[in-house]
Amino acid sequence: MDFSLSEEHLMIRDAARDFAKTELLPGVIERDTHQKFPAEQVKKMGELGFMGMMVDPKYGGGGMDTISYVLAMEELSKIDASCSVVMSVNNSLVCYGLQKYGTEDQKEKYLVPLATGAKLGAFCLSEPEAGSDATSQRTSAIDKGDHYVLNGTKNWITNGGNADYYLVIAQTDREKGHHGINAFIVEKGWEGFEIGPKEDKLGIRGSDTHTLNFNDVKVPKENRIGEDGFGFKFAMKTLSGGRIGIASQALGIAAGAYELARDYSKIRKAFGTEICNHQAIAFKLADMLTQIEASRHLVMKAAWDKDQGNNYDLSGAMAKLYASQTAMNVTVEAVQIHGGNGYVKEYHVERLMRDAKITQIYEGTSEIQKIVISRGLLRD
Ligand code: CAA
Repeated sequence: MDFSLSEEHLMIRDAARDFAKTELLPGVIERDTHQKFPAEQVKKMGELGFMGMMVDPKYGGGGMDTISYVLAMEELSKIDASCSVVMSVNNSLVCYGLQKYGTEDQKEKYLVPLATGAKLGAFCLSEPEAGSDATSQRTSAIDKGDHYVLNGTKNWITNGGNADYYLVIAQTDREKGHHGINAFIVEKGWEGFEIGPKEDKLGIRGSDTHTLNFNDVKVPKENRIGEDGFGFKFAMKTLSGGRIGIASQALGIAAGAYELARDYSKIRKAFGTEICNHQAIAFKLADMLTQIEASRHLVMKAAWDKDQGNNYDLSGAMAKLYASQTAMNVTVEAVQIHGGNGYVKEYHVERLMRDAKITQIYEGTSEIQKIVISRGLLRD
């Protein structure tokens, strides 16, 4: 078994690391404080190929594997998790969903601009009463022959205000339960599509999260993804890959906080020596690094499963469950190691601690990951 990264993987990781340090670090505190969407940064991420990393080059993507993607996600997330969630949703949910299940026309029209970073995507599943319980969709899409009429509300939508194209999951036949759900491509600006106010969040404050309202929005039939009734499976399959992206985001948040705490402990003195020389601090760092390394193995295993064509529902859920718990533990300890300095914005760790929390909530809470894992193990 070979744990080493290829030359190409190392190049991608280093390019992402440089980009994060030079382009994301300046201004990250200001964007967080003022909830400013990183529009310029996302544009540059598109130019560098980070917005459609795994998409086939014939559709404008980078043609890279999932290992490359999680390496880049980790590096960006060390510095700015608001930027990395924009990247994650566009890559793993929107581009992946269109590439895998879209028609050729849908790919030409929507995937190409999304993969090149010319346009931005959002994934709209959650509703006021259907967050974890995704089968209980209330948003309806009524078949009118050559089009559907979409009505309903979606909540907590990442990229909600800044996206151009939205993948919207809706109920087309209530009698059929989850077999009566479909996924549609909806464009910003269509009549009846309203973007609600931006949420004021604890963390990932640079990314924009909105409620979206659909009032009699006409969606052409050719914008349905897959066969009639495929929408719930589409959402589940897409989210399985999305969870690998969020696991790598959580890993990056943890690793970023750890590196800051380690470096700080080597210069901060107390009781006559650098604080890293006190076992109380050194043992914390040892625990943090061990959890990070375990998370990295889980993330890499899930990415490898996806690249090999193996089922990655379980490995992705395990990676997300463990890496998000690690992100929480490690960022709390990083603040503690920084003492009073950890509680102020300048030192970055308080932001990483706030950012960490969402990784235990979006794309399935930790409890949902345990449902996915336990159902999987009982099936085997
Ligand atoms: N792949 C393919 N099919 C799947 C699947 C998967 N991974 N998981 C379930 N299915 C299928 C099942 O086989 C079943 O199909 P059949 O009836 O044909 O056999 C069907 O889907 C229903 O499955 P379940 O009975 O298991 O469904 P459930 O109602 O018990 O729910 C769940 C399963 C795992 C809890 C699911 O509801 C779930 O994942 N919920 C969480 C939703 C979520 O992650 N939301 C996050 C919002 S998106 C977001 O956060 C994006 C963002 O902006 C950052």
